Amino acid sequence: MCSIIGYSGNEVAAPIIVKGLKRMEYRGYDSVGVATESNNQIELKKGIGKVNEVNSKIQLDTLPGKTGIGHTRWATHGKVTEFNAHPHPSNSGKIAIVHNGIIENFEELKKQLENEGYNFKSETDSEIIANLLQKNYESTKNVKETILKTVSEIKGDYAFVAMFENGQLAAARFHEPLIVGIGQENVFLSSDVLGFIEYTDNVIYMKNRNIIILDKKDFQILDFNGKNTEYEITKVSKEFGDVYKGDYAHFTLKEIYEQPDVILKSGEKTIGDIEKAVDYIKNAKNIYITGSGTSYNSALIAKQILSKYVKIKSEPIISSELQFSPEIIERDSVLIAISQSGESADVLEAVRIAKKLNCKIISIVNLLTSSLVRKSDITLGMNCGPEIGVAATKSFTAQLTILYKIVQKLSNNITIDFEKFAESILKIIENPVKIQKIAKELKNVSDIYILGRGINYPIAIESALKLKELTYIHAEGIPGGELKHGPLALMDSNVFVIIINPNDSTYADTLTSAREIKARGAKIIGVSDIESDLYDYWIEIPKIKEILYPISEIIPIQLLSYYSALEKDTDPDYPRNLAKSVTVK
Ligand code: G6P
Repeated sequence: MCSIIGYSGNEVAAPIIVKGLKRMEYRGYDSVGVATESNNQIELKKGIGKVNEVNSKIQLDTLPGKTGIGHTRWATHGKVTEFNAHPHPSNSGKIAIVHNGIIENFEELKKQLENEGYNFKSETDSEIIANLLQKNYESTKNVKETILKTVSEIKGDYAFVAMFENGQLAAARFHEPLIVGIGQENVFLSSDVLGFIEYTDNVIYMKNRNIIILDKKDFQILDFNGKNTEYEITKVSKEFGDVYKGDYAHFTLKEIYEQPDVILKSGEKTIGDIEKAVDYIKNAKNIYITGSGTSYNSALIAKQILSKYVKIKSEPIISSELQFSPEIIERDSVLIAISQSGESADVLEAVRIAKKLNCKIISIVNLLTSSLVRKSDITLGMNCGPEIGVAATKSFTAQLTILYKIVQKLSNNITIDFEKFAESILKIIENPVKIQKIAKELKNVSDIYILGRGINYPIAIESALKLKELTYIHAEGIPGGELKHGPLALMDSNVFVIIINPNDSTYADTLTSAREIKARGAKIIGVSDIESDLYDYWIEIPKIKEILYPISEIIPIQLLSYYSALEKDTDPDYPRNLAKSVTVK
C-alpha cells in the first residue's frame, strides 16, 4: 500500500512531487523517493522515513528537471530499506518506475530476467516492472508498445508510472487507483487527487485495464489492447484540498474536534439517496453489513440498532473473512458496505462476491471518488471532509450518524435532534483536562481491557482498536458478561479496565462487573453519565437517548488514546506499521 505520483509540465517537478507525496503520506510512509529527468538523464534519490525527514536529509526536492515520479512506500515485499524504496531504476538506468499494488508472478518473471542477465537490487516485486520495461523497450523502441507488452506479462493488482530517459511518462492501472490531473500547462498521475489538488481540479479517473502515455502535456489513453478508449474529465471538489492541521498539533486531534460538526453535516446533509437506501433495506431478502477495522465496528452497531429499534435483522461480516465463507451470502440480498476510503481491498472483494450473487450494494463512503462508489447501486456520502490521521475518528461518527438517520427514517417514533446531540458532544471535548490526567496514568500500563454490553460492546472493541493504534498498548474489548468466562483470571493491580457503562439497560450488570474487577485490585476508568465509587477515574458523558450513547462514549476514548500517545511519544497521526487505506488484500 503506497502512493505514486508523476508530473510532466513546465515547472520544476521535484518540489511539486514532494508536496504531493506529503499529502498522500496517509497511504503508507516507511520510505520515500523521487526520480526526475533532465537533459535525457534520470536522477534518483530515496530514503527511509517520512517525507519531511527524508527530504531534510537528502533534499529530494532539489532534483532537476520538469518531469518526475515519486513514491511513498508501505512495505509489503521486503523490509524497510533504501534499496526496497521506490523509484526503482531499470538495470540500464534509462527507465524508472513507481508502483502501488502486488505483482503476483514476480518470482517467475525475476528468474526469467535473471537468466537473461538482469540483476536485482531490491527484494521488491516492483523492480520487476522496471527491468521488464527495459527489455521490452529495447526490443520495441516504442513507449506504447513497451507498456502494452509489459501489462500483458505481469499478473496481479497494480498501478504504476514509468519514466523514460527521453522524459516521457507512461502509466497503467489494474485494480489500484490511478487518477490523472489535468492542469493548464501540466499533467499529473496520482493515486489520489490529494497529490495535485492545489494545481488542478480537472481529473480523469482511469478505468481498469487502461494505460496512459504522456508527451509533455499531451496524452493518449488506451486499453490493454492498444485501442483508444473514451474517458471523461470531471471536476473534484476543492474541499479535498483542505488537508491542513490549522492550529491543531496533529490531524488526529483536529479530526476528533471536528465531530460535533460532522454530526450536523452527516445528520442533516448526508450526500446521497437515503430514501432509496431505506427502500432497499425495507424490501431486502437479507441484509449483510461489511467493513474493515473501524468501519466493521460500525457494522456491529448497525446490526444492534436495526434489530433493536426497527426490528430488522442484519448480519455483520468482516470484509476480509467473506472470501473464506461466501456461502454466508444468499443471492438477491442487500449488502451495506462501509468504508471511509472506499478503497480497502478487502471491502472491494466482499462487494465483488456479493455482486456476483446479484446483491444490491448500498455503500457508506467518505471519498466519493473512490472505487467502492463506482461499484455501488446507492452511495451515502459521509460528508465529513478528508480524514488524514491513520486511526479513524470522525469517519466513525459520520458512519454512525448516517446509520441513525436510516433508522430514524425506518421508524415511526425515533426522532433525533442532531443539533442538540452535537451540542452535548461539544461539552465532552471542551475540557480535556481530566482525560489528559488519566492519559498520564496509562503511560506505563501494558494491558487495558474494555468492557461493554449490548450496543456498548462494539464501542469496547472500537476503543481497544484506538488504544492499540495510537498507543501500542495491548487492549482488548470484552462483552461484559464474558468476564467471568475467562478474562477475570487476568485482573490484578497491574491492569487498567475501562468500563463503558451508560445509564441504559446494561447499566446494573456492568456495574456488577466493575465490582468484580475492583475486588481483584485492577484500576477502573468508568465512562458513564452516572458517577460511582467503584471508578478510580470517571469520564463523564452526557445523559442522552440510548441510541446515541455509542458516539458519546467513543469520543472521550479517542481523546484518551490521543493524549496517551503523546505521553508515550508515539506519533498519533501516523502509527507505526499501519496505513490509512489498505489497498492490498
Ligand atoms: C485501515 C485503517 C483503519 C481503518 C480500516 C478500514 O486498517 O488503518 O483505521 O478503519 O483500514 O478503512 P476504510 O477506509 O475501509 O474505512
